[in-house]
Amino acid sequence: MYRTHTCGELTLADAGKNVTLSGWVQRVRKLGAMTFIDIRDRYGITQAVADNTVTDDVRECAASLGREYVIQVTGTVRERQSKNAKLATGDIELVVEAIKILNTSATPPFTIEENSDGGDDLRMHYRYLDLRRPPLRDAMILRHKMAFEIRNYMDSRNFLEIETPYMISSTPEGARDFIIPSRLNPGKFYALPQSPQTFKQLLMVAGYDRYFQIVRCFRDEDLRADRQPEFTQVDCEMSFVEREDVLETFEGLIKHMFDKVLGVQLPAKFPRMKWEDAMARYGSDKPDIRFGMEINEVTHLVRNTGFTVMDSAEYVGGICARGCASYTRKQLDQLTEFVKRPQIGAKGLIYARVEEDWTVKSSVDKFLNHYQLRAIIDQCKALPGDLVLIMAGDRRQTLSALCQLRLEMGSRLGLRDPKKFAPLWVVDFPLLEWDDETQRYYAMHHPFTSPKIDEVDLLDTDPGKVHADAYDFVCNGVEIGGGSIRIHDAELQQKMFKTLGFTEEQAELQFGFLMNAFKFGAPPHGGIAFGLDRWCSLFAGADSIRDFIAFPKNNAGRDVMIDSPSTISDEQLKELFIKLVPQE
Ligand code: AMO
Repeated sequence: MYRTHTCGELTLADAGKNVTLSGWVQRVRKLGAMTFIDIRDRYGITQAVADNTVTDDVRECAASLGREYVIQVTGTVRERQSKNAKLATGDIELVVEAIKILNTSATPPFTIEENSDGGDDLRMHYRYLDLRRPPLRDAMILRHKMAFEIRNYMDSRNFLEIETPYMISSTPEGARDFIIPSRLNPGKFYALPQSPQTFKQLLMVAGYDRYFQIVRCFRDEDLRADRQPEFTQVDCEMSFVEREDVLETFEGLIKHMFDKVLGVQLPAKFPRMKWEDAMARYGSDKPDIRFGMEINEVTHLVRNTGFTVMDSAEYVGGICARGCASYTRKQLDQLTEFVKRPQIGAKGLIYARVEEDWTVKSSVDKFLNHYQLRAIIDQCKALPGDLVLIMAGDRRQTLSALCQLRLEMGSRLGLRDPKKFAPLWVVDFPLLEWDDETQRYYAMHHPFTSPKIDEVDLLDTDPGKVHADAYDFVCNGVEIGGGSIRIHDAELQQKMFKTLGFTEEQAELQFGFLMNAFKFGAPPHGGIAFGLDRWCSLFAGADSIRDFIAFPKNNAGRDVMIDSPSTISDEQLKELFIKLVPQE
């Protein structure tokens, strides 16, 4: 028997017991005749002490231990003289009787402790060592707990977990696909699914009225802190439902998760916000509503000022930062630099401070008179002591920049407490988005999303005005999930493809299987998918999803540990009928 207990479970109640632990050497300290060995496994750390009662063999063995050696220690549990309140096992120590080295270890390239001295690349390279550290261990435990509770809830609501294929075919919509060549079908390619969307709809046609799956999805898109090329969805679909049924069911799942995993009680009903309101008030379709500081449009108040930046702008808007009138020149310059960063792309930032006597001092005093400035600060609901930050320009870009500035100010003012959760359903998205470059509409969610039924006729006359029966679940400014009621009528689906610019032949080629299935009694259905990685990072209050994935890719989409993607042999290329073109 390698162990009687784990390294995280012995307490004062075990004092006097003879036990055996197995684990990794975290640290060895010599103090006079005593050698202290911290032994670690995934459950915790226990201090073992080899004192002057041990045999020479044991003493020698203790002296030879290096960091990360795998050892087995047998001894008696006793109360510690100097207790360590930070450790679960901090009240006891193990008085060593025997030590066995189960395996040696090369010196690890970074410290394997709560905070490591290793850089990002190095830790990614030795991910299996990084995973030994408590923060990553906790992330893995959290993820497991979440998956477990999802299955619990879904099972209790009659959902069946059904797997769908990973090798499917490429579709032109959405992000880029990852492609797999087929040896058995020369010149043909599979694609990895961006989501199981069409399969879950086929399962509805097949009569499996409540489906879910914790499933890997693959998207070849630009990576960010909240995006990985392979990520995991909690993918769900239901038949015979309207939007309210779906929202109610999944509000139930979300509340269950917050309760069971975090012990947090969410409100009985989540607030809802129309997409148009979210964009106008927060400049984003995923507003962080933990704090106010809403965006206020002031375009109509700043016409004919003689200040071209404002006069000619399609949109002028401002936010009010409470109590920030005392911001120094330097702080304002920093904010201006912030909005000018290429990711945000604003040209500049205008400010107006409201003094205690209601006079307004602004960077545009030259152009705007007192009444105009008062009108702006009134519109922004600013009071004495507040600072109004204003931007002007193209409507979409300015709203997006104001959104980023609002989040930045929220962070600076400590209004984005990661322990506070503000759930929100964003509803009534536009069905379509116009793309100037390709001169066509794209589905805002995906082509299977149902338009609002009373707006279907608009598809022929003014498609840009049609709303989708779609919803996103947003929490603390992160889009955690999204879904919709689906089209279940072959004719309407055909019409949707036509609006998206597909010819009948193209639609048949790409989605014939689905439209064909719709001819065989497709029930009304709808669903949603949550990003599990994002949900984990939200629960842990982390910015990046990377640490909630055991073996993630870096920002260049590479796994530096296994050196992937990699080249393949000429032999393999030949088998696949693939010829590489030299890179330019
Ligand atoms: P959608 O594309 O909105 O919907 O994806 C659902 C959720 O998946 C997460 N997500 C990601 N997480 C990490 N890395 C990525 N690259 C990534 N892309 C998406 C997000 C997102 O909210 N089939 C539809 C769902 C449906 O209609 O039922 C779909 O895939 O949290």
